[in-house]
Amino acid sequence: MRQSIPAWIRIPVFFLLIVGVLEYFIDSGDNYAFIEFPLLSAVLVVILLFLIAAEAILNAIENVMFQALTPEAKERYMRAQQERIKKYDLKRIYRKLAGTRPISEEKELELDHNYDGIKELDNKLPPWWLYSFYASIVFAAGYLAYYHLWDGENQVAEFEKEMLAAKIQVEEYKKTAPDLVNAENVVLLTEAAELKKGETIYQTNCMACHAPDGGGGIGPNLTDEHWILGGGIKNVFHTVSEGGRAGKGMIAWKSSLKPAEIQQVASYVLSLQGTSPANPKDAEGDIWTE
Ligand code: HEC
Repeated sequence: MRQSIPAWIRIPVFFLLIVGVLEYFIDSGDNYAFIEFPLLSAVLVVILLFLIAAEAILNAIENVMFQALTPEAKERYMRAQQERIKKYDLKRIYRKLAGTRPISEEKELELDHNYDGIKELDNKLPPWWLYSFYASIVFAAGYLAYYHLWDGENQVAEFEKEMLAAKIQVEEYKKTAPDLVNAENVVLLTEAAELKKGETIYQTNCMACHAPDGGGGIGPNLTDEHWILGGGIKNVFHTVSEGGRAGKGMIAWKSSLKPAEIQQVASYVLSLQGTSPANPKDAEGDIWTE
């Protein structure tokens, strides 16, 4: 192993292997483990230094052993070494991949026609190009079979699947997200379905004090344009969420209703504006204008 692969390949490959294994086994969430745990980076640096040191020591041992060889053995060893170095010579690898031949061999490539001194060379296609091309043909066959013979998922189907998954995620998020709606960003809902939900919440929680039609009882009349704590969706949302003045009997509903529900019931309350309840309580507070 060590004999045939040079150090400049061996050390990085070995090091990356270690990093990869650590990344795989250490649970570091979305981040890389060595970023999440700075100590790990330090350990990795030590490992790298250790690898280099081990390399140096092995080299030194090799040197000592080399000195102990007979002259013929030294000769043989050197030749083998040379062969090995040649195999991993970057320039040689590049030339092989590019398929170029040195200028000195140009004569062999020349085609036998000559147009007023313009000659043509018959260069072979560069191997990297040729093999990529073959690979693309193989890939195309697989692609064709997967999508057109076996009915693989096309873009539209993939898109729809992802949208569906995203929709489920959004619903999940909405279930647990506490502060999507608050007194600052709340808007008045006008859709019948939302107001219907608001009405249900109102009839369950609020009508005992504000009367089923909002006319008022223990709590103030919610149908007139007078407001103690301010009208408009933002104020009403705030009152329902945080409660009325201390000791007046209107509790903070944020502990039992979700923000979205408070928005619904507040919108429903405001939809009662201008209706005529059966037993309206006298107006309290000031006339509200935005
Ligand atoms: C236990 C009785 C009681 C219940 C139940 C109750 N309220 Fe009230 N509500 C009151 C009282 C009392 C006030 C006046 C608070 C104050 O003066 O500070 C009030 C005030 C309000 C106001 C402010 C009115 C204004 O003039 O500024 C709104 C809006 C309101 N309630 C909505 C609701 C809604 C919506 C519910 C149901 C989720 C609800 N209330 C449930 C007793 C109640």
